[in-house]
Amino acid sequence: MINLAIIGCGGMSRAHTGHFSHGDRARIVSTVDVDSERAQAAAALFEGARAETDYRKVLDDVDAVLIVLPHHLHYPIGMDCLARGKHVMMEKPMAISEQECLELIEASENAGKMLMIAYCQRFNPLIVRLKKLMDERVYGDLFQLSIWTEQHTKYHPGHWALNARTLGGGQLFSHGCHYIDLLLWFLGRPVEGTHLGTNFGTPWMEREGTSNVSIRFENEAIGYHFGTWGARGTRLKYSIHAHCTEAMVEAALTDGKLIVHKGRSEEVIMEADSTKHTAEEMGHFLECIENGTQPLTDGWSSLQGLRVIWRLYEAEEKGAVADLRGCALEDVG
Ligand SMILES: NC(=O)c1ccc[n+]([C@@H]2O[C@H](COP(=O)([O-])OP(=O)(O)OC[C@H]3O[C@@H](n4cnc5c(N)ncnc54)[C@H](O)[C@@H]3O)[C@@H](O)[C@H]2O)c1
Repeated sequence: MINLAIIGCGGMSRAHTGHFSHGDRARIVSTVDVDSERAQAAAALFEGARAETDYRKVLDDVDAVLIVLPHHLHYPIGMDCLARGKHVMMEKPMAISEQECLELIEASENAGKMLMIAYCQRFNPLIVRLKKLMDERVYGDLFQLSIWTEQHTKYHPGHWALNARTLGGGQLFSHGCHYIDLLLWFLGRPVEGTHLGTNFGTPWMEREGTSNVSIRFENEAIGYHFGTWGARGTRLKYSIHAHCTEAMVEAALTDGKLIVHKGRSEEVIMEADSTKHTAEEMGHFLECIENGTQPLTDGWSSLQGLRVIWRLYEAEEKGAVADLRGCALEDVG
C-alpha cells in the first residue's frame, strides 16, 4: 500500500481527489494546504486522512506526494520532498526555469525516487488511441497536427496565475505546455517555430492570455496550437485535428469522440468520457513506483517541451523565428 499526501488543495486537486480510484494500491493519508479549510475539505473525502497546513509535518508518514501548487512553489517544495526520499508527482509545468527543472531531475535521480509530471492529456484514451493510429500510419502520414483549446479563465484579482513571475509566463507556459508536450510526442524533433501571444481580450493576464504556436519538425510536418483563456464562446472547444495523407482524424476532446473524416464522410471510431484523465495518470504513477520503471512523462521528457516554450518566448521578443534544434528528448538528457 502506497501512502500519499496531496500538497495543495485548490482547483486542480479536486480533479485528482474526484477521480482517485486506487484504494487497493494506495491511500491518501494527508492533505495539505495553507488554507486550512481547503485542507480539511479534501481530508474529509478520504477515511482517516489528516489535514495539515505545513507539508513538512506529513512527510514522515508518506511514500509519495502529489504537488498541486502555484508554479513558483513547484521547485522549492519538490526539492524538499525529494530530499526527504519521497516519490513526486508534480502538476505541470515542472518548474519555472531550466535550472530549477535540472535540479529537480538531478535530485530525483540522486534519491532514486520517481519524478513524474502530471500531463494528464497523455493518459486521455482518445489521445492514446490517436497516437497509436498515427504511429501505425493507419491513415497514411501525419503532416499537420492542429490543436485548439478555447476556454474562459479569469482568476480573481491577486491570484498567483495572473502574475507572470508566479505563473512562470502566460497561457502558453501554464496551459499550452500540455499541447507542446503532445506536439513533440506525436511529431518528434522540432526544427523551428514561432509564438505570437497577446493579452488583448484577457487584460486580467500580465502576459499572454491567447497564444498561437507553429512548429516545423524534422520530417517537415507542422504542429500548431491555438490556446486562449479569453473565449466568450467556442465551437471547437478542445479539439485536435490530425491531417494525414489519407484522412483527417479529429479528437473532439470535449465531446469525447474520435472521428475519421474522409471526403464528405465521417465515422466515429471511439468514444470516451471527457473528464480530466487523472485516474489513468495516477495509475501510471503508482505502477512506476511499484515496478521501479520510468514514467512516460518524466522530468527529461517534460523539460523538452518547456525548453521549446522558453525558446519560442525569447524569439518572440526579438521578432525572430525560434531555432528549436537541440530541444528534442534525445538532446536534453
Ligand atoms: N492538468 C490540468 O488540467 C490542470 C488544470 C488546472 C491546474 N493545473 C495545475 O495544478 C497546479 C495548481 O493549480 P490550481 O488551479 O489548483 O491552483 P489553485 O490556486 O486553485 O490551488 C493552489 C492551492 O495551493 C495552496 N497553497 C499555496 N501555497 C501553499 C503552500 N506553501 N503549501 C500548501 N498549499 C499551498 C493554495 O492555498 C491553493 O489552495 C498548477 O501546477 C496548475 O498548472 C493543472
